[in-house]
Amino acid sequence: MKLGCCYFPEHWPETVWADDARRMADMGLSLVRIGEFAWSRIEPEPGVFDWGWLDRAIDVLEGAGLEVVLCTPTATPPKWLVDRMPDMVAVDEKGRPRGFGSRRHYCFSHEGYRAEAARITTQIAERYGAHPAITAWQTDNEYGCHDTVLSFSESAADRFRQWLRARYADIDTLNRAWGNVFWSMGYRDFAEVDPPNLTVTEANPAHWLDYRRFASDEVTSFNRAQVDILRQLSPGRDMTHNFMGFFTEFDHHDVGRDLDVATWDSYPLGFLEQFWFSTDEKREYLRQGHPDIAAFHHDLYRGCANGRWGVMEQQPGPVNWARYNPAPLSGMVALWTMEAYAHGAEFTAYFRWRQAPFAQEQMHAGLLRPDNSDAEAADEARIAAAAIGKLGTQSIAKAPVAIVFSYEAAWVCGIQPQGQSFRYLELTYEWYSALRRHGLDVDIVSPDADLTAYSAVFVPTMPIAGDSFVEKIAALECPVLIGPRSGSKTESFCIPDDLPPGALDRIMPIKITRVESLRDGVSEIGVGWTVSRWREDVVSNLEPEFALSGGRGIVYVHGNHRYIAAWPDRSLIDLLVERMGKEAGLELTPLPHGLRVRRSATHVFAFNYSTRVIDTAGLGLGTPVWGESSLSPAGVTVWERT
Ligand code: GAL
Repeated sequence: MKLGCCYFPEHWPETVWADDARRMADMGLSLVRIGEFAWSRIEPEPGVFDWGWLDRAIDVLEGAGLEVVLCTPTATPPKWLVDRMPDMVAVDEKGRPRGFGSRRHYCFSHEGYRAEAARITTQIAERYGAHPAITAWQTDNEYGCHDTVLSFSESAADRFRQWLRARYADIDTLNRAWGNVFWSMGYRDFAEVDPPNLTVTEANPAHWLDYRRFASDEVTSFNRAQVDILRQLSPGRDMTHNFMGFFTEFDHHDVGRDLDVATWDSYPLGFLEQFWFSTDEKREYLRQGHPDIAAFHHDLYRGCANGRWGVMEQQPGPVNWARYNPAPLSGMVALWTMEAYAHGAEFTAYFRWRQAPFAQEQMHAGLLRPDNSDAEAADEARIAAAAIGKLGTQSIAKAPVAIVFSYEAAWVCGIQPQGQSFRYLELTYEWYSALRRHGLDVDIVSPDADLTAYSAVFVPTMPIAGDSFVEKIAALECPVLIGPRSGSKTESFCIPDDLPPGALDRIMPIKITRVESLRDGVSEIGVGWTVSRWREDVVSNLEPEFALSGGRGIVYVHGNHRYIAAWPDRSLIDLLVERMGKEAGLELTPLPHGLRVRRSATHVFAFNYSTRVIDTAGLGLGTPVWGESSLSPAGVTVWERT
């Protein structure tokens, strides 16, 4: 794994570039990402290009032996472009055009902006496509950041209508599919259909689902247009895009199919603060991030571009954008780096090289402080570089268990949560976390993935289970867990004719006759476990494997398949993981609180996310080749696999 950083030569006087590049190389970095927000410096006036500075910046980096990931600058269209084409901006759900003055203000559906994005991509690729220092291209920057996948502009409405026409061919088919007889919502022509925002009360969920599918396709085609240009003008370079954390607004498996390397931006402390974690967890892991946040995304994005992935932005210290922005525990930046390495990342690049003293992110740490002195993370990057240098290249085998991750499932749960705390990401994360607490390595895979080689498969929920998916799951011989709400909707967001779990009833002979959602703090009690948030009434001839104290069945088994008809607590998840692990013949190692392990083909890594010293002698791994068998907080220990 290479180490790198995100660098903005345009932020600093040219006189410091050479020294920056030399210090990067001295620190053990070998890769630099540049250019993602530099459009106005590259093309200060329409059609007038200033390449000189970028030519020199790339040359300086190359001179220090650094390889360059060059970006297309389409996340920040300049003011002159917005003024020329004012309707290129996205429109938010309340109908307000996005203003100029930050970033990501464009609409994915604006044909004029698509042409401009292709034009600037072509210009940059023609200029640098053959440059030997450039080894990879990043398209744009964080598609969807700041809630920008959905746009409700006129351009989006036009292209949505075209998308619907292609999908349904005639308007009656759409009316029937959506159930538009309800509330007199029928249309006479595709031209009458608007985006689903600004309705008096909720719009038709089928309308929303198609809008989300459409918006996701818009991101995919926007990205593909750039990739096509870059592949032609810069052959042999890797194509990547930097995905975000806990983000499901577009289908990353679709975008990933057009990339060579999926990358993501890892900010564990910001994510802990911003997402659903309990107050206790936010306190306990304040300076470490929850132990599965980084790993979850490593394993998710490894499944997006044929196994090739990296960390494009790694948190180096306090960030500026969460509600509260604590500093990482000393050692944490090295730990996060080593964890990416243990999961098979090709590189980890720190965001950013030097903290900027100006503008929006002046409170965001870097490897250097604004006065050019080393920040705390600089030494940790050096430590990680030394460890990686010593341990060598890691290769990653298929994990024993897979979690099926579906972006469409996330949309369905978000469009119609039915109970407000039914969160797809959280449910999936709970299963992932339980598997990791039992010492297992996990692959998080797309619903299209080949599942045959896994010893156990977990489907946290799959509301729309298409025929090919059902067939694949039915054919599996390993233990399979299928979560609540699976098969509960048709392709066009209706309840299946024969009730849920729809087509899944061929592997699980049950009928869900009623569902209820429960407010936070309310749970139903089983023996040593509870369920909360969501519970289904199941009618079946099967005897439940687990039932509530009152007798209602919660878990059903049929052959190697298991169905869980509620939102399980951690105790029930643990019970099921243990049971399925045993059935699968897997060796489970319940880990000490806050400890996580990960295996590569040659090594076992342990990471201490707790604030206590953890003795790993009990794991029976022998003498470490890196670190101590007694792990201090934020400690990393590595053993050779026997
Ligand atoms: C990312 C983004 C970067 C920077 C960073 C700050 O979301 O890609 O440009 O804003 O966050 O943490």
